[in-house]
Amino acid sequence: MKPVNIAIDGPSGVGKSTIAKSLAARLGFTYIDTGAMFRTLAVYFLRKDVDSGDEAAVCALLPECDVDIRYEDGQQHMYLNGEDVTGLIRTEEVSKVASVTSQYGEVRRKLLYMQQDMARRQDVIMDGRDIGTVVLPDAQLKLFVTARPEVRARRRYLQLKEQGRLGDATLEDILKDMEERDYRDSHRENAPLMEAEDAVLLDNSDISEAEAEDRILELLRERKLI
Ligand code: DC
Repeated sequence: MKPVNIAIDGPSGVGKSTIAKSLAARLGFTYIDTGAMFRTLAVYFLRKDVDSGDEAAVCALLPECDVDIRYEDGQQHMYLNGEDVTGLIRTEEVSKVASVTSQYGEVRRKLLYMQQDMARRQDVIMDGRDIGTVVLPDAQLKLFVTARPEVRARRRYLQLKEQGRLGDATLEDILKDMEERDYRDSHRENAPLMEAEDAVLLDNSDISEAEAEDRILELLRERKLI
């Protein structure tokens, strides 16, 4: 039987991964966070001290990068040339480089095949920016998750504060960074952040995690996917 593929797209900080992770655990599907793959490459680019705006220089490094996803205790771990870099990919520095370098067609192509191959083999919930439009155009359910920018920035602010990683950033700084990144993600030439024509729109601003999950479970039942 053909595996069930659920695509979840939307801007950063919208709560996609929280919803996707929880649903995947509940349904026994594999959760694939594609942003983590772009972040893993960004770690390499930072280590090599390459100018992230220099497309040719960035792409020249791609053959040296071996990106691998492994699941350990149900958690997605990212490997870069055999090293577990999962703990290194969530910094603001990595976010910025990933946002710039994910614009490049060659960077995207390198990860696209891996993403599609994983979805062919198993039931997946995959989240990212172009999953419903480019990576899994035949996904049985596509969701486009949004939330007001202020809500997203506040969530990110509280998360960083809780993790002790806020530094001297203010809520306004985070909102500004987020808007810059959104602009870049939505206006790039290659696979921009865009709602697929057949996606279901889910505004996550004022609903709880449980409500979002219930809504998606309902859609899956309606489509006889679970
Ligand atoms: O979802 P995230 O913040 O971890 O993603 C990191 C960066 O990677 C983000 O700037 C957008 C980019 N990205 C992408 O271009 N396509 C995807 N499918 C996932 C992420």
